[in-house]
Amino acid sequence: MNDHFPPEAVFRTSQLEENDGPGHNPTENPTMGEIIASRFSRRGFLKGSLAVSAIAATVSPLALITADNARAASGSAFNFDEIEAGIDEKHHVAAGYDADVLLRWGDPLFADAPEFDPNNQSAEAQAKQFGYNNDYVGFIPLEGSSEHGLLVVNHEYTNEHLMFPGIVTVAEGKIKVSDADQKRVDIEMAAHGGTIVEIKKEGGKWQVVRDGKLNRRITSTTEMQLSGPVAGHDRVKTNADAAGTKVFGTFNNCAGGVTPWGTYVMAEENIHGYFAGELPADHKEAANYKRMGIPEGTYQWASFYDRFDVAKEPNEANRFGWIVEVDVNDPNSVPKKRTAMGRFKHEGAESIVAKDGQVVFYLGDDERFDYVYKFVTAGKFNPDDRAANLDLLDEGTLYVAKFADDGSFEWLPVVFGQGPLTAENGFASQADVLIETRRAGDLLGATKMDRPEDIQPNAVNGKVYVMLTNNTKRKADQVDAANPRAENAFGHLIELVEEGGDFAATKGKWEVLLKCGDPSVAEVGASFSTATTANGWFGMPDNCAVDADGRLWVATDGNSPKATGRTDGIWAVDTEGEARATSKLFFRVPVGAEMCGPLLAPDMQSMFVAVQHPGDGGEDWEGFGRPSYYEDLSTRWPDFKDDMPVRPAVVAITRQGGGKIAV
Ligand code: FEO
Ligand code: CA
Ligand code: CA
Ligand code: CA
Repeated sequence: MNDHFPPEAVFRTSQLEENDGPGHNPTENPTMGEIIASRFSRRGFLKGSLAVSAIAATVSPLALITADNARAASGSAFNFDEIEAGIDEKHHVAAGYDADVLLRWGDPLFADAPEFDPNNQSAEAQAKQFGYNNDYVGFIPLEGSSEHGLLVVNHEYTNEHLMFPGIVTVAEGKIKVSDADQKRVDIEMAAHGGTIVEIKKEGGKWQVVRDGKLNRRITSTTEMQLSGPVAGHDRVKTNADAAGTKVFGTFNNCAGGVTPWGTYVMAEENIHGYFAGELPADHKEAANYKRMGIPEGTYQWASFYDRFDVAKEPNEANRFGWIVEVDVNDPNSVPKKRTAMGRFKHEGAESIVAKDGQVVFYLGDDERFDYVYKFVTAGKFNPDDRAANLDLLDEGTLYVAKFADDGSFEWLPVVFGQGPLTAENGFASQADVLIETRRAGDLLGATKMDRPEDIQPNAVNGKVYVMLTNNTKRKADQVDAANPRAENAFGHLIELVEEGGDFAATKGKWEVLLKCGDPSVAEVGASFSTATTANGWFGMPDNCAVDADGRLWVATDGNSPKATGRTDGIWAVDTEGEARATSKLFFRVPVGAEMCGPLLAPDMQSMFVAVQHPGDGGEDWEGFGRPSYYEDLSTRWPDFKDDMPVRPAVVAITRQGGGKIAV
């Protein structure tokens, strides 16, 4: 989700201003290690922005050729000609590749699903069509094939001003969205969640199998089960669910993962925006909800459904903020909220099998000054018995990361009874610890990070990559070795190496892999290699993927005309050898969009990327220069038809004539 679109430009757009506040971490956990003085300042940044355009205008073709030679000599793992960074209405991919739109918001997913009609949308239709704002993309091969499988896609949130005709008025250059009626809310709820859909490559092109037996939509009303230590606890009981085990729906599913046993995990991230109302100040959940920013009331669901009003149903919000696991092999399976993995603003859940068979999930809590976690299953993965793995996520140890300035880190167990996680601090059980995972992390003295997003283990080299998107609220006296820049506007990447190469280890070594931003502006303090061109640098790393060769692909959220003079996209980032910290632009999104996905099929011949909230914004782009909304859009990607709105979509990238990507 984008946090750069100016909030003042839109009144009630249902666009959550993701974690754009001061952060909800009130603790004074000491910053550790040597304080690195930062030269980055607001003034320096403005100077830098001017420098960006000056440099962009003066890079000669000769200089670019020289850069190419430098890259070849430095042994990059990626072989493609990078595209130019920039901004326009379309998507762009490297020469020699096709980027075909595979699934758009509203595309029918079942034989009996209605065709998309934006003027006649209903919740019933939406529940059978591809949802809005695709984020995580996973591929689950069918019978081991890289050309036939299930695509699993999260639908993170909805942008009402882009989705619905006739609800926006414009005054003094700002758009105002009318109050929702129940029909609109119901459509929004059906546009959230996830999609599971069979896809097949035929004649080199990916197709949706519309009558696939396993096709499924998951929405904000799908029945789910609370499972693990929190199931049945008093703090998750509601008027509708006296047992505290049955929840309806999931929302704000950001990134996610596919488990080694082939289930789909969805991370519930910015759940605070869906709740409204007021808890009495002395209510027992007041501090818990404050730490999570609940309620924020961005959406109007509480106007029609009491469960989203914290005054009427004070425990409902404790039933969100979890990792949800879906068994894709049975379209009627009840998804399970795996409470053992903690409750916070879950960004993703990428996993890997450790040395002795335990499965390790890396988890980010995407808020300024929040934490990096991992979950290690108690049981072992059984590759020969899928059913035996289906409840692995109910038992295990959750850890939170503490980074030291000497390049080491520790995983601190988030376990009731250990350290400060006791009755003295208000925890009566592991369920209490998990419901208030953030407070447990505060008490343990975890390291406050610059918004942890996707965290990706690499099976080829044994390392783990942590995307830290940015944190402009970090002050100079709050910097530490793992978060080394004050006013960190562009984010950074950290690389972890677990002790003994064991992903289940409780400590290891870390290093900053890359500080993002324009490397030609000294004040920014970016650390891309000198082989990185003016197109190759980026800001705001978010989702990422590691391919079968162990190469890192980074998607971004928040590049814009104003922030970096470019749209978001997919950057190929070298991590090994002399080419380390060299980055190249492979794909870029249309104006207003954020880049999500990415995912490479196991054979590395297909890459799936998700173009999220295209057309959301346009004021700061000289090609448009005004607010963008349904009737006046900065782009009508991907259809470019006057009677079709802009539509978030998944794009399949393949090499012309076949072959592995960027090899
Ligand atoms: Fe939904 Fe943290 O990005
Ligand atoms: Ca983000
Ligand atoms: Ca994200
Ligand atoms: Ca990922």
